[in-house]
Amino acid sequence: MGKRLEGKVAIITGSSRGIGEAIAGKMAEEGAKVVLVSRKIEGLQAVADKIRAGGGEATPIACHVGHQDKRQAMLEQAIDTYGKVDILVNNAATNPHFGPMLTIDWGAWDKTFEVNVKGYFGMTRLVVDHLQQRKAKGSIINVASVAGQMAAPMQGVYGMTKAAVISMTRTLAMELGPAGIRINAIAPGLIETKFAQVLVENDTFRSMVVDRTALKRVGQPEDIAGGAVYLASDESDYLTGDVMVIDGGWTLG
Ligand SMILES: NC(=O)c1ccc[n+]([C@@H]2O[C@H](COP(=O)([O-])OP(=O)(O)OC[C@H]3O[C@@H](n4cnc5c(N)ncnc54)[C@H](OP(=O)(O)O)[C@@H]3O)[C@@H](O)[C@H]2O)c1
Repeated sequence: MGKRLEGKVAIITGSSRGIGEAIAGKMAEEGAKVVLVSRKIEGLQAVADKIRAGGGEATPIACHVGHQDKRQAMLEQAIDTYGKVDILVNNAATNPHFGPMLTIDWGAWDKTFEVNVKGYFGMTRLVVDHLQQRKAKGSIINVASVAGQMAAPMQGVYGMTKAAVISMTRTLAMELGPAGIRINAIAPGLIETKFAQVLVENDTFRSMVVDRTALKRVGQPEDIAGGAVYLASDESDYLTGDVMVIDGGWTLG
């Protein structure tokens, strides 16, 4: 069997660690040329070195996805490097406030929306423009969260941004389907990364989640990567507007 993403170019935001790193690694393994994006170049270089050592193709580009000029420059550099982009994984997100929803200050509110909503929307707009100019099909994958589908005490505004991402995914799937551009979301449960460190290392929270989780464990970044490859590949050619919940059965009921 050939590699599932041979000939494709993928941008993965937030790929210097955690879920984004796992997605980029798996996509490279499947033959995609991957563009690694986060704010700090050092982490990206290390991930690029690992991918290249395994025989993959990767280019690191530092970019704050909340800023339009930075997003645009990054996309131009990606296209200069590989000639095109076929796959976008919107994954870089932030959650600066941990506490009751109404106690958030406006600075943290703005930052959360700037990265998690405007960042995803802005990247999507740029990549869709590029695909439409090429009259090419494409796949966009938005990493949302189960926090966007249920109440999210202590991370309420973050949950709101993830609900916005799910809404955006569904509407754009309708609007872009006729052009052959598919857009799906992944809603991870609790995954062991730096982002979720406070939650994973809090014994009470961790065991509360694990107790309710059918598969009786917290997730690892690699648990998300296979789903992303499937959504990026032609195997999911008839799937759009979906929210793939990968949570070990945490939110089943
Ligand atoms: N871990 C979980 O339990 C969990 C659950 C549900 C959903 N998610 C979602 O999964 C995604 C990845 O999270 P993770 O757990 O893998 O987090 P992580 O390990 O903390 O990684 C976050 C990545 O995003 C980058 N990043 C942060 N702000 C950025 C910005 N403004 N511009 C560009 N890059 C930025 C970081 O690199 P730099 O610091 O270099 O910028 C890093 O590469 C997020 O969308 C998150 O909401 C996570």
